[in-house]
This record gives sequence, C-alpha cells and structure tokens, in this order.
Amino acid sequence: MSLFSLSGFGVGYRDSDRLHPAVEAIDLDVPAGRHLAVLGESGSGKSTLALALAGLLPANAETNGMLSRPGFAAPPRLGRDIGLVFQDPGGSLDPLMRVGEQIAEARVVNRGGTWRAARGLAESWLARVSIPDPPASARKYPHQFSGGQKQRIALAAALVSEPALLIADEPTSALDTMSQYAIMGLLKEIAAERGLTLVFVTHDIALASGIADDIAVLYRGRLVESGPAARIFSTPSHPYTAALLATRLDLAKPRPRRFAEIDPRDFSLHVPGGAHE
Ligand SMILES: Nc1ncnc2c1ncn2[C@@H]1O[C@H](COP(=O)(O)OP(=O)(O)OP(=O)(O)O)[C@@H](O)[C@H]1O
Ligand SMILES: [Mg+2]
Repeated sequence: MSLFSLSGFGVGYRDSDRLHPAVEAIDLDVPAGRHLAVLGESGSGKSTLALALAGLLPANAETNGMLSRPGFAAPPRLGRDIGLVFQDPGGSLDPLMRVGEQIAEARVVNRGGTWRAARGLAESWLARVSIPDPPASARKYPHQFSGGQKQRIALAAALVSEPALLIADEPTSALDTMSQYAIMGLLKEIAAERGLTLVFVTHDIALASGIADDIAVLYRGRLVESGPAARIFSTPSHPYTAALLATRLDLAKPRPRRFAEIDPRDFSLHVPGGAHE
C-alpha cells in the first residue's frame, strides 16, 4: 500500500502574472513502511515536493497532475498522521515554552488523553531521543539545549503523536557531521521500531545511503531517477546521479575505521612505555 501516489504531478509558484515551475511531471509512489530519501541540489524542488506531501504548500503555489493518498483512510491530519521536522529546530520549537510542555501539548492536541499521561510520554520520548535527565530537561526551555539536542527534542515532539509518516526536510544539515550521523542513526532505529514511513530530504548522498530503502533524485524540478537505494547506488541510470555518486567516492571505499580501531602510531604519538615503542 502506498501512502502517496503521484502521477504527472507538478507545482509552480505564482509571481504576479507568471507561474514559475518548481517541480514538474513527477511520477512517484511512497510505499508504507519504507524510507525514501529525496536527493538533489539546492533549488531542485525537494522542499516543494515535501511540502506538497504534507499539504503545506504556500498560497502562491499551484499544482497540476495527480497526488493521491491511497494509504490514508481520511485526509491525513498534520501532527497526528504526518509528523514534520525541519532543518531549523527553532522553526518547530516554541522558545517560550518548556520542552516537556510542548511535547505533551502536541500529544494532547493530536491524540487527546490527560495532561498527566502526556507529560509522562514526553519524558519517555526525551529519554528515547537520548536527552539526559528527562525529568529535569522537560522543565528547561529550548535555548538551554545545543543545536543537536534541540533537533532531538523536535523529533520527540513530532513522534509523540505516533504519526504513520515522518517528513524530515534536511533535519540535520545545520549540525556537525558527528551529530548528523548520530541523529540519523536514532531516526533509523525509531522508524524500524515503529514501522514508521520516512520521507527524508537531503542533498547529502552519503547521509541518505545510511537510511534510505528508496531514493528519488530531483534535478531542476524533474525526477531523474527513483527506485531501490541499492540499485541506484550500484548502477545509477542518470548522469546527474552518477555525478552525485562520484562526488562521494568514499561510498565505494571501505568504512572509515572507528576511533577504537585507530592506532596511536598514526599520529606519531610518544607513548612512554607504551606497547608501540
Ligand atoms: N514560496 C515560494 N515562492 C516562490 N518560489 C519558491 C517558493 N519556494 C520555493 N520556490 C522556488 O521553487 C524552486 C524549488 O525550491 P525548493 O525550495 O523546493 O528547492 P530545494 O531543493 O528544497 O532547495 P534547498 O536545497 O536550497 O532547500 C526554487 O526555484 C525556489 O526559488
Ligand atoms: Mg529545501
């Protein structure tokens, strides 16, 4: 079953009397339970596609072609059926509200139940996304956390309502590489635990390769390639995808060694009495 099915789908943005196409002629299925990475350079239409799926296109957008939602019984409700995480966690977190309260509020608004139960869930979600000391953290405000922690909290706020689908638009691109991979690993774990469908927007093919079952590559508003990640990484059919892969040659190389595997001799360290002397 597909959550979304797009056929000849396009979006243009109106600017006075002109319509500027942003994505065109998209044929794409988003099957339930799979993880789709939407790849492409800046301006290729990734966010436009993500916003169209979320039903969040701005007022000056005009669509054409077909976008159906066969996997949803009723029109999906944002927050409850579809969770969203954006690049800037500031965009999803309220700076004036304690983080525990905002996670709990999302739960109460989207799923009902008591505040007491929702606060309990908020703390367990803070623990699940590895925020230290959840009861104390729940009482803090967003500015008291690092960028990576804020993004984990935004993830908890999106997932506490148990949506079937999470749409994440470059959720880690503002973070350093280690935090990016840590959050991606966490997202992959949680998605597997909950059977969550994931639509993950990124321009980073290495990051996408760690999480995606399927890949959709946008180039200048066109879907130039889509299908299972393994097939696309081994035999890309479009020159743009091949070029993207070539910029990340490390994908083809063995994994970098873990810290524990690094030999101190690599750094010509002087280790008095050490095994390497
Ligand atoms: N609200 C808007 N009004 C008018 N044009 C827009 C709007 N949002 C996006 N566009 C245009 O649509 C095209 C696709 O933009 P989009 O934001 O979808 O790209 P993107 O792939 O997400 O880029 P990035 O990697 O920089 O986030 C661009 O030409 C952009 O200028
Ligand atoms: Mg974007």
